[in-house]
Amino acid sequence: MEEKWFSGLPTKIIGRYVRCFKKATSTNDLAWLEVSRGAPEGTIIFADEQTKGRGRFGRSWFSPVGGLWTSIILKPQIPPEHGCLLMAIGAIAVCELIRDKFNLSAHIRWPNDVILNNKKVAGIIVEAKYLANKPEAMVLGIGFNVNIPKDKIPEELKDTFTSLSIEKNKEVDFRLLAGDFISYLDKWYQYMVQGQYETINSAWKEMSAVMDKQVIIKMQGKEWLGKVSDLDPCKGISLTLDSGEVKVFQGEYVESLRIK
Ligand code: BTN
Repeated sequence: MEEKWFSGLPTKIIGRYVRCFKKATSTNDLAWLEVSRGAPEGTIIFADEQTKGRGRFGRSWFSPVGGLWTSIILKPQIPPEHGCLLMAIGAIAVCELIRDKFNLSAHIRWPNDVILNNKKVAGIIVEAKYLANKPEAMVLGIGFNVNIPKDKIPEELKDTFTSLSIEKNKEVDFRLLAGDFISYLDKWYQYMVQGQYETINSAWKEMSAVMDKQVIIKMQGKEWLGKVSDLDPCKGISLTLDSGEVKVFQGEYVESLRIK
């Protein structure tokens, strides 16, 4: 990727400052380095490959050449209880882009996976640093499997991983996709900073792959089976268990969710 691809982007915040690297441990590490150097809100970092890409719960993230590995520095002036929407807008932006530009039926598997045919095509992680109880900066990390062929997928990911090129059966124009990605994310970030929470909540719910489905949730070594009866990006997921009891789970504590 090259920084000049992004000069003159018509976006409001995201992509005002773009840094592209050939290789990084993790673009999130580079983003935090930029934060410490005073980088402005909307700074976006890309790396062609990551040697230590990270996912939620300290899991490693497979990041070969061909994926869109990116981290965005954000400093939203919103009430702390709405910070959780950042994860939601990341997932919505990717999901909407795939639907609009590739005509594929993308969904969000709660809380943060974008899926195609029940396989993960993108994952989102949000990291935040607080100063006196207010977020000083947040880093939105997105891993989007774009041009990764089937024969490059490690054995242990074969059943759960997909990419845009696999689903479309052809290579995707990476430059076009990266520009579109920034535009979609910028649009949803605007909704967030303008307080249009209902627009975000309803898009997120509509894109959800799990509403009304039987799912198994794993948290702190235990598993729960139930039907998803409500979803909210901040309040969590409500499961109606077989006993009739309704249990609410928060995204940040749930290790995995499987659709039954
Ligand atoms: C997950 O599903 O667990 C979240 C995965 C997030 C991966 C992206 S790739 C770009 C950024 N840099 C990282 O090290 N992680 C995120």
